[in-house]
Amino acid sequence: MTDDRAPSAPAADGFPPAPGSHDPEALRRRALDALLSARARTATLTDSVEDGELTAQHSPLMSPLVWDLAHIGNQEEQWLLRAVGGRQALRPEIDGLYDAFEHPRSSRPSLPLLAPAEARTYASDVRGRALDILEAAPLHEGGRPLERAGFAFGMIAQHEQQHDETMLITHQLRSGPAALTAPAPPDPTDAGSLPGEVLVPAGPFTMGTSAEPWALDNERPAHRREVAAFHLDTSPVTCGAYQRFMADGGYTDPRWWAPEGWDMVREHGLTAPLFWHRDAGQWLRRRFGVTEPVPEDEPVLHISWYEADAYARWAGRRLPTESEWEKAARHDPATGRSLRYPWGDTDPTPEHANLGQRHLRPARAGAYPAGRAPSGAGQLIGDVWEWTSSDFLPYPGFVAFPYREYSDVFFGPGHKVLRGGSFAVDQVACRGTFRNWDLPVRRQIFSGFRTARDA
Ligand code: AVJ
Ligand code: FE
Repeated sequence: MTDDRAPSAPAADGFPPAPGSHDPEALRRRALDALLSARARTATLTDSVEDGELTAQHSPLMSPLVWDLAHIGNQEEQWLLRAVGGRQALRPEIDGLYDAFEHPRSSRPSLPLLAPAEARTYASDVRGRALDILEAAPLHEGGRPLERAGFAFGMIAQHEQQHDETMLITHQLRSGPAALTAPAPPDPTDAGSLPGEVLVPAGPFTMGTSAEPWALDNERPAHRREVAAFHLDTSPVTCGAYQRFMADGGYTDPRWWAPEGWDMVREHGLTAPLFWHRDAGQWLRRRFGVTEPVPEDEPVLHISWYEADAYARWAGRRLPTESEWEKAARHDPATGRSLRYPWGDTDPTPEHANLGQRHLRPARAGAYPAGRAPSGAGQLIGDVWEWTSSDFLPYPGFVAFPYREYSDVFFGPGHKVLRGGSFAVDQVACRGTFRNWDLPVRRQIFSGFRTARDA
């Protein structure tokens, strides 16, 4: 562990420290809030269905919800109780059951998992002890890397929120009547007057961060990147635009598809995004137990990388690279530095972005005017995860921390990067530098995209 990649190391790149990142008591409150709000969301996701549905396999693509619940507790135990607190294992015999690398998701229903009541008790026993440890932990600058700036607590809150998003995907895949409800997101106010694309002029920018205290290993360190001039869609590609691709024979013409994408289309007989079906000449979709007409001007959701790539080629465009996406989202030409978020350095509010499962759908294209970047692009944070053309690779100077299995083992050409977060991501696990990744065939995730072209 060298100092320049430590969680709160001072930035060499002119970044301001994140708000409160040098005040241990502010960080302690922030960590407490983040842990409590993650647990409240976990409770919503696991208490909204009968216990029988917690142990059921809703899809071979997903774990039973009760696995996520105990895995959340087990990760918290390993990092906060054992690594930070120096405590003995509460239940050493269960570690293997909840090790994501030992058991593929499809096999998890047949493991001797903790029953729902046991899993709840375990997670809350761990949490009680974790809060005691947080109360006493030295979060100051000179401390151990895991505790410094509350990193491990922030990491565990992010981990729980990431599994909450995973559990929300399981909710979307389950059949039966709706278990969750939420109000509709805000409508756009000036969508009609927005340009279709924005121009991002050529020039270097700072990618990644060395200053954000809870940024995960793959977001570090901050480094300069040259980016040629390009145009980027102002908003994510909508269902209406995507239907024009479909109506134009998009799924039947191999010209638009990468070879592996075309194989996927033929093998699975794909004709539309996941969860869509046609009825009496109209496209409908199933969304959290409700069937409804596909909304024209909402960002398209549940799209694989191959479908996004094919659409872009059909449109005479391409997916943005990861550096292009981040430059459009963070670079401020007025100061030459990179912002924490498109709108600036302040944490997200409900005016900035559709985050945190506050709504159960993306907002229509053009919503969230307060969230736009200096580039003019909007809805970069929240709504839908956006596929980029880039493979998931380490930044120059990357150091795995605190465990290789978070990012390091996934680097390589098999995984494509997604940026910006969806309506299902909590703000603690979403920022201008946050990197997500998945297989290019994946479509049950809350994924969409926007397109780009060279300038
Ligand atoms: C960053 C979303 C790809 O869910 O596979 C959760 C996050 N890592 N537990 C995933 C994660 C370990 C990860 N993603
Ligand atoms: Fe996990």
